[in-house]
Amino acid sequence: MTDALKLGFTPFTRLRGVLIVFCGENLKFGAATQRALSPTGDLIRRAAASERFTGKSGSTLDIVAPTGLKFPRLVVVGTGKDSDLKRRDLLKLGGMAMGKVPGVAPEATIVAELASGALKGQQVADLALGARLRAYSFDRYKTKRKDDDDRPKKVEVEFACANPAAAEKAWALATAISDGVVLARDLINEPANVLYPAEFARRASGLSKLGVNVEVLDVGAMKKLGMGALLGVGQGSVHESKLVVMRWNGGKRGATPVAFIGKGVCFDTGGISIKPAQGMEDMKGDMAGAACVVGLMQALAARKAKVNAVGAIGLVENMPDGRAQRPGDIVKTMSGQTIEIINTDAEGRLVLADVLHYVNKRFKPRFMINLATLTGAIIVALGQEYAGMFSNDDKLVERLNKAGEATGERVWRMPLGPEYDKQIDSKFADMKNTGGRWGGAITAAQLLQRFVGKTPWAHLDIAGTALGSPQTDINKSWSSGWGVRLLDRLVEDYYER
Ligand code: BES
Ligand code: MN
Ligand code: ZN
Repeated sequence: MTDALKLGFTPFTRLRGVLIVFCGENLKFGAATQRALSPTGDLIRRAAASERFTGKSGSTLDIVAPTGLKFPRLVVVGTGKDSDLKRRDLLKLGGMAMGKVPGVAPEATIVAELASGALKGQQVADLALGARLRAYSFDRYKTKRKDDDDRPKKVEVEFACANPAAAEKAWALATAISDGVVLARDLINEPANVLYPAEFARRASGLSKLGVNVEVLDVGAMKKLGMGALLGVGQGSVHESKLVVMRWNGGKRGATPVAFIGKGVCFDTGGISIKPAQGMEDMKGDMAGAACVVGLMQALAARKAKVNAVGAIGLVENMPDGRAQRPGDIVKTMSGQTIEIINTDAEGRLVLADVLHYVNKRFKPRFMINLATLTGAIIVALGQEYAGMFSNDDKLVERLNKAGEATGERVWRMPLGPEYDKQIDSKFADMKNTGGRWGGAITAAQLLQRFVGKTPWAHLDIAGTALGSPQTDINKSWSSGWGVRLLDRLVEDYYER
């Protein structure tokens, strides 16, 4: 459906196809909606009474072939009290409305008006963003459509609004975000036989079309830099590891960049410390952090964000093999610190140790935010609603919290502290790569912190939020592309000149 969906904006006077309108509590409609529905007389009141529909948030009323109207179908979507609707609620409403477009309908119009009045351009664009994300599905490997499937190949959905030109303009920016989220979802949903490090790097290189500078470092270059931790993880795979550095320079010339770093384990078998078979297929998504960084860079570049941003992703495959690294091995990181491998399945922190140090040394960024499906422990702690946030900087934490509330991609701060360090002391090296069962997400973060120096830094453990995502009004896919909207908002609200 994604590629086949065409979104547009139209005045209130040009309605066609399935008509979708919003309605507040106690069956309250906006003025334009009332005008459009007036030929139906008391039809809606009677239908609502028989369905006990009052306009509560999340409820809908569906009327086929409504008397008095030329539309094949009328759908009324309840918003509840619309005085306290936030921006992220508009995405939700857009998603809900999109979800009510019947599969067989080639066109639909969503009336972008609440009971409290018409929506502004930006708000209409938010509705459209929700609709676009809702319509996403990853079906490129389904070769057979059902025999009785008579869905149209193309669906046109228009948003009727007070000022279509203003909505169109806001949508140009929102499209950048939606394309970024869709790119991240596609990368995460893609299987690992297709998306191995070199292929991932190739897709990231596609951002150069938008003016992003993309460098791909191969194993030779990483050896020269001394990235023994990252390379150790990938050495058991037939696929060569890669490091991709993306730069978007939309800010002042020479201004210090912000930096985003992603864990890109294209498949995580666990290595020699192999994982159980049950659910292992999900580990094709162990590159969700990297996917989010690429999606974010795409969004920033496409909307020409006024910021200098670096995105860096460590791409490896963690496989068991005759050449794979073993428990007991000691690797030397680019920073010079050594790590004893206790469990080859704690590989994400090894990859990030080298990428964090590299980015910090080369770019001396204003801050570094890394995203990683790092630990099962964070899922135990927070479930799938909040990502774990570990940080050495209270200001960055506050801003991430605010961006999280605004976008609905929420983060929850977890502790760091020297008291945890003894859990990762090693008999033979500077540290070991696991800290035992207790506080597993914390000891992982504690290791990462050793590679960021004094730079403001936040580590987002997205193991719970990025994969097998909860089904919501704006996501029906295995991966929601978590983090793209959060970080785009962070940049927009705090780091653009
Ligand atoms: N990629 C996994 C973490 C993960 C688990 C992500 C489930 C998404 C869903 C990570 O590499 C891992 O295996 N972590 C281990 C660490 C342990 C060996 C210290 C874990 O959490 O069990
Ligand atoms: Mn692992
Ligand atoms: Zn992993």
